[in-house]
Amino acid sequence: MEKIAIDGGVSLKGEVSISGAKNAALPIMAASILSSGENIISNTPLLRDITTMGNLLTRLGINFQAEDNRIFLRTHGINSIEAPYELVKTMRASVLVLGPLLARMGKARVSLPGGCAIGARGINLHLMGLKKMGADIILSEGYIEAKVKKLRGASVYFDIPTVTGTENLMMAAVLADGETVIENAACEPEVVDLANALISMGADIQGAGTNIIKIKGVNNLRPLDYHIIPDRIEAGTFLAAAGITRGKIKIKGCNSEHMDAVIIKLGKAGLKITKEKDGLIAEGSERLTSIDVKTMPYPGFPTDMQAQFMALMSLSEGTSFITENIFENRFMHVAELRRMGADIKVEGAAATVRGVKSLKGAPVMATDLRASASLIIAGLAAEGTTVVDRVYHLDRGYEKIEEKLKPLGARIRRIK
Ligand code: EPU
Repeated sequence: MEKIAIDGGVSLKGEVSISGAKNAALPIMAASILSSGENIISNTPLLRDITTMGNLLTRLGINFQAEDNRIFLRTHGINSIEAPYELVKTMRASVLVLGPLLARMGKARVSLPGGCAIGARGINLHLMGLKKMGADIILSEGYIEAKVKKLRGASVYFDIPTVTGTENLMMAAVLADGETVIENAACEPEVVDLANALISMGADIQGAGTNIIKIKGVNNLRPLDYHIIPDRIEAGTFLAAAGITRGKIKIKGCNSEHMDAVIIKLGKAGLKITKEKDGLIAEGSERLTSIDVKTMPYPGFPTDMQAQFMALMSLSEGTSFITENIFENRFMHVAELRRMGADIKVEGAAATVRGVKSLKGAPVMATDLRASASLIIAGLAAEGTTVVDRVYHLDRGYEKIEEKLKPLGARIRRIK
């Protein structure tokens, strides 16, 4: 199993370019199912999750090719409706094929995702919405078996604003009979990017980015030729890296409008963040201050930045309170940060982080994607060597992280 070793203590300096957003690319790849023809998606990050989605689409009979950051999906010959367990278990986002398969093929058989490292992560809301649209859904042998003659528009209210649930429903609704209204919809930029991609295919969608989305079904959609938005979480991770190493990094190609909550909190913690035309400049300061955060649905502080922020707070002056409101078990990085000398206590959904003077390098284990990123960040600032095990988690969501960090001065290497 590959590991990443970091000799910490270098202030990062220089420029880094941000890749396309994983969580926008995944649903947009699934949206290709809705058309018959050659789809082109550019600015796609080169990540393990993108390959997994490509493999899943290949199983459905779609021809998938990747050339650098462009992918081609030829969707004429869809001949299967099944998302098998072995793919769904490695990537929960596989469930995103459910809505578009139902819309195009009238049936789908998708393995039920199990729990995962960060929480139970049910998909009951996805299924509730699809049922309201007329789908007949049963659970059999660990699979969701869904069928429908023709989906029909419906009024759907989500108890919790679910990101992939909103995306699944939007993709189901674009070819349905009549109008679908999703209330308490997720407002994340990735939901908006999917809506824009669908609109570019000919869909009629209004309100994406607000909590009420209205979708009028159309008869057919043309293939995609679409450019994915920049990854706000990758950008935020580099901001945190600048802060924790007291460095100065220009983060090129990010969209700062998607990052307000993170920029505001990091600014309060003592980072100097300047907006430029082509990105952000983040400068750490000698004394970082503790700041409280509560994770919330967008535009609140993103759960996907909580672990990285906690690493930063571990080295800040004072005590910060970090509340995780989205997932019930997203503190797996705490035990690993403690192994590096962090002073963190967890009670339920709240973590109390008392800033320490220094972190010490240690062997640590990545447990999920963003936990891995927090350990890398902590390792960059720690005294001595940190070895992060199970970096396959990191490779799911960060494109060439060590190649992006090295030019900034990080002493980082991948080891077998
Ligand atoms: N939930 C339900 N029932 C449902 C759906 C969701 O109870 O049917 C609950 C979840 O258990 C969770 C909350 O609702 O407590 C919100 O979950 P959501 O459905 O919004 O999460 P998701 O769509 O599964 C996406 C991202 C995650 C990100 C979350 C929250 C993708 C592919 N994944 O997950 O990204 O953390 O939204 O913003 O878009 C990551 O990139 O590291 C990552 C985990």
